[in-house]
Amino acid sequence: MSRIFPPSSREPAQAAGGAAPALSQQLAEVAQALQAILAGQSGTQALAAVPQRLRPGVQALLFQVLRQLGRAQALRAELAPRTPPPRVNALLCTALALAWDESQAPYPPFTLVNQAVEAAKRGPAQRQAAFINACLRRFLRERDALVAKTDAQPQALWNHPQWWIARLQQDHPAHWQQILQANNRHAPMTLRVNRLQATPAQYQQLLAAQQMGATPVGESGLALAQPQPVQALPGFAQGQVSVQDAAAQMAAPLLLQGLDLTQPLRVLDACAAPGGKTAHLLEYAGASAGAGAPLQVTALEIDAERSGRIHETLARVGVKAQVVVADASRPDQWWQQASGGAQFDAILLDAPCTASGIVRRHPDVRWLRRDSDIAQLAAIQSRLLDTLWPLLRTGGRMLYCTCSVFKAEGDLQVKAFLARNTQARLLPSPGHLIPGNTAQTAAVPDNEPGDHDGFFYALLEKAP
Ligand SMILES: C[S@@+](CC[C@H](N)C(=O)[O-])C[C@H]1O[C@@H](n2cnc3c(N)ncnc32)[C@H](O)[C@@H]1O
Repeated sequence: MSRIFPPSSREPAQAAGGAAPALSQQLAEVAQALQAILAGQSGTQALAAVPQRLRPGVQALLFQVLRQLGRAQALRAELAPRTPPPRVNALLCTALALAWDESQAPYPPFTLVNQAVEAAKRGPAQRQAAFINACLRRFLRERDALVAKTDAQPQALWNHPQWWIARLQQDHPAHWQQILQANNRHAPMTLRVNRLQATPAQYQQLLAAQQMGATPVGESGLALAQPQPVQALPGFAQGQVSVQDAAAQMAAPLLLQGLDLTQPLRVLDACAAPGGKTAHLLEYAGASAGAGAPLQVTALEIDAERSGRIHETLARVGVKAQVVVADASRPDQWWQQASGGAQFDAILLDAPCTASGIVRRHPDVRWLRRDSDIAQLAAIQSRLLDTLWPLLRTGGRMLYCTCSVFKAEGDLQVKAFLARNTQARLLPSPGHLIPGNTAQTAAVPDNEPGDHDGFFYALLEKAP
């Protein structure tokens, strides 16, 4: 999903190159996208249906709505106790989410209400326009009392489903509030400098020459002071830099440090698309051992369409890997082809997960997931761990990671794996990285909350 550019003022978001679209039109599009998400579509799919010229403004508003949806749903239930039809519910929730907190509202609340009613009169909720008008006028009159009433509901207070809040309370008793607060904020745009082409300090100077401020993050990262379209970044098309969160940038150094990169190494990236970590592995190895470092990477991906993005990523940064479309849990279908049946020196398992750590950038995720997804995904992760482990040579390393904050997909998953694999040894590992808000954008040193995604890392070694 492309990055968002929230409306920073109370002016209507301008469509690229043209007059600003009417706010009522944008609200109608936001409500339609919200309705699709509440029916199970991803935010990316829902936004794809929005006309391109409206998309940046609609995306910014939609993301704000998704970050305030728990509150909006609670207010909607106060105003209309019987759930209205989906299109009415979506338009009401859109207006309420944007207007309930005047300090964060992108437009004055009465403007939002007027424009939402206008959208109702012109759209598929036309016949319910009077009802929508009545609800929203009452909301304007009784806003403080209604908001106070919904404060008692955790879903309204934290803007996450109740089960999600309960799960975080259980998994992270010391940090659950910080995680929930961080999830409702904007993520910084963090870059990974391609060390085959430049050092972070050199690239920071290139940015400064374009009046783009940035702060160093970790070994190769720079967090931009303001998000930018990637095309505006110097040398982006030539692969000088990639967009990658600070937590995700830890994977390549974690897996490769401690291995002798001057020797030929066979590496498996088992769940690779869109190829961010594959590219980083090759950049890191190349920069550490000099040009022509003999890292042979097999990038596996089950989804043929998504595998195309690995090719694009690798071509842009100028590195090469063997890309194979296959199910990592079925080595009988790809292992011979990929390595002639030889074991790997290192395996990166960036496993499919709930994505509960990246809700800052994908605010739809919390409303799409169900509690039962966690156990289902944990079973897939466990199967992948068990299937790939025999493909690792003795003395080799496997890095297991997920972009999740739930322990069932991290700490508990690895504990269970260690219990059933006596040959596996846990090396010093970051464990759960907690998204939070620090005063400055810091490196990702340990488990204290930091301005990065939620992530989990466990580095495993195969003992003789
Ligand atoms: C978390 S994403 C990987 C992100 C990637 N490592 C990166 O840094 O750009 C997980 C990927 O695993 C793929 N995947 C899921 N199950 C898989 C399987 N059984 N075998 C191979 N790939 C799988 C998904 O299609 C998805 O592209």
